[in-house]
Amino acid sequence: MKLTELMTPVALIDVPRMQHNIERMQTYVSKHGASFRPHVKTSKCVDATRAQLKAGAQGITVSTLKEAEQFFAAGFRDILYAVGLAPNKLVGAAALLRQGCDLKVLTDSVQSAQAIAAYGTQHGLSFKVLIEIDTDDHRSGIKPASAQLLEVARALTAPACELVGVLTHAGSSYDLNTPEALIALAEQERSGCVRAAERLRQAGFTCPSVSIGSTPTALCAQNLDGVTEVRAGVYIFFDLVMHNVGVCALNEIALSVLTTVIGHQEEKGWAIVDAGWMAMSRDRGTQKQTQDFGYGQVCDLNAVALEGYTISGANQEHGIVSRAAEPDLAIAKRFPIGTQLRILPNHACATGAQFPEYHALDHEGNSTTWSRFYGW
Ligand SMILES: Cc1ncc(COP(=O)(O)O)c(C=O)c1O
Repeated sequence: MKLTELMTPVALIDVPRMQHNIERMQTYVSKHGASFRPHVKTSKCVDATRAQLKAGAQGITVSTLKEAEQFFAAGFRDILYAVGLAPNKLVGAAALLRQGCDLKVLTDSVQSAQAIAAYGTQHGLSFKVLIEIDTDDHRSGIKPASAQLLEVARALTAPACELVGVLTHAGSSYDLNTPEALIALAEQERSGCVRAAERLRQAGFTCPSVSIGSTPTALCAQNLDGVTEVRAGVYIFFDLVMHNVGVCALNEIALSVLTTVIGHQEEKGWAIVDAGWMAMSRDRGTQKQTQDFGYGQVCDLNAVALEGYTISGANQEHGIVSRAAEPDLAIAKRFPIGTQLRILPNHACATGAQFPEYHALDHEGNSTTWSRFYGW
């Protein structure tokens, strides 16, 4: 199908841009001597993930058991579930293990480690477990120097548990926007996680895997000594938040929403489009950054950014296109009713999640449908 034949709003993947992003990350991580495990929560799409594996990725990272189940059913075996395993999810994790999935799970507390060990013992299963490390005060995890690290390792008793490594995610990288700060945080993420692994090894535990990563730190790490694998997710599409962080150009953003102009408020310099927050998501991630893109950057049909034009306001199914600097009083002529535009999202994971499928666009602008998982 051609773009002009699609019913709007729809989510578009620019496949050449996506492919470029995949190769950029894979090359960077491989050059630094680590393996790469993409986080598929961004696309939740088998076709996109196959392209990542084809480029050299090893295994996948997921953020829900549903993703693990869906990807396993599609033939992916090596799956890291990188959200602390709650006791109520043990049944689902166990079901995957029994079916032959090479599932790895995550913990950062003695209580949940004990729950995993007890469940494994009771059901004759062995869970591969990583301990989550907090290297930047961003979210969950145990500090590298904390006594709790060894307590959790001790609670992961064999044969119900096998400690396979440590994992960290320096999510505070999203708050940065200079190369120096990103390089420093990448080093903090690396050294903190390696330190945790060394403490475990010194205490007699095996800790083969040292898994780190977020898109900004993965692309800014200067060395990956001691790291065995890097994870990143949003880089596959990039988005406006990543653009403000400084790790991608606007013309590298591979996800956009195709929308149609449905009306105008000429005296206000507004064009109204059929992509409101239901299509773009409510994510206003660029609001506190150096450049606020409203609900998205407006582009022409070739995904070339129309400088200054953003979705400045959004209702459920209405988006307001306006020019930031001064109202464009000729906007009705510039974008007549029926004009199709493409909107780059603030946060690709959130915008993608608004749609049941993607339309993947090739070099010639022909689209194929790629389905997408949703729910938990
Ligand atoms: C545990 C974990 N690893 C990796 C990532 C990927 O981060 P990014 O999307 O910045 O690449 C995330 C994202 O939230 C995560 O939670």
